[in-house]
Amino acid sequence: MSIISLNVRITSMNKHTQIRKAIIPAAGLGTRFLPATKSVPKELLPIYDKPMIQFIIEEAVEAGIEDIIIITAKGKESIATYFHKNDILYSHLENTNDQNMLQIIDHVTSLANVSFVFQDKPLGLGHAVLMAEESIGSESFAVLLPDDIIANSPGALKQMVSVYNEYQCGIVAVEPIPSENIHNYGVVAASPLNPRVHTIQSLVEKPSRGTAPSNLCIVGRYILPPTIFQYLHETAPGSKKEIQLTDGLNLLLGMESLIAFEFEGSRYDGGSPLGLLKATLELGLTRPDTKSDIKQLLDSFL
Ligand code: G1P
Repeated sequence: MSIISLNVRITSMNKHTQIRKAIIPAAGLGTRFLPATKSVPKELLPIYDKPMIQFIIEEAVEAGIEDIIIITAKGKESIATYFHKNDILYSHLENTNDQNMLQIIDHVTSLANVSFVFQDKPLGLGHAVLMAEESIGSESFAVLLPDDIIANSPGALKQMVSVYNEYQCGIVAVEPIPSENIHNYGVVAASPLNPRVHTIQSLVEKPSRGTAPSNLCIVGRYILPPTIFQYLHETAPGSKKEIQLTDGLNLLLGMESLIAFEFEGSRYDGGSPLGLLKATLELGLTRPDTKSDIKQLLDSFL
């Protein structure tokens, strides 16, 4: 499909509007991290010394996002606490004149306008996104899944915003992966449009083994038109009996175009202990203040 015919089907993307708002679904139980996640939200587990969710918010802010809506659940209130000023800690750092740390914690509280919406029941990713309908209003927005840690400069979302500025339609991040793992993901059927850009024909959430329409799995970064909410209202429970964002996107595809974008960057599965460890080590090896210690540690294992 050419760019021209792609544009014909655009009905709801506001032309040339900036993507200013982002949803971060963070209401899950984090069962792969039990027992730690009995009381610590998975999203606050650190990559070295920085909570996963902060990496995600920094990626969003780099892409021009100003308002972040975190979908959270009962028992995960400490995510909100993390983004508030801690007076006791603050005065301690002031008293000890720890300017470096004061700067680091100031940065956390001043990253973006962060607000929270509670999801009462774990009814799925599509349902979590729907919780932010009122906060998003009528503009196109981003969704970032905090389990998918993507290392790159520019970040994955910033790359997607550039693609959005060119195509002005919904964008789903994708990555080619080995076929033996594809059943764990949402998958797109798509045809190539430009380097790294594909026109989506359909999407399927967690296809059973051997039935995936391609090797392009959906990665947790999306830019979506506000019309997705109307389709999510109509989306029936699907995989795991949950309301899936992938199924809502399939409904939207009946009326509007969607493209799949193969971002540049390495992705880590921050939802699993091994993935988070890998992210910690690999990202630590790129940080000026940690790289020599981590290299020494790894060398000592050989
Ligand atoms: C979610 C999405 C899925 C996507 C995946 C990426 O699944 O539903 O389409 O491929 O994130 O991480 P989950 O990992 O929440 O089961």
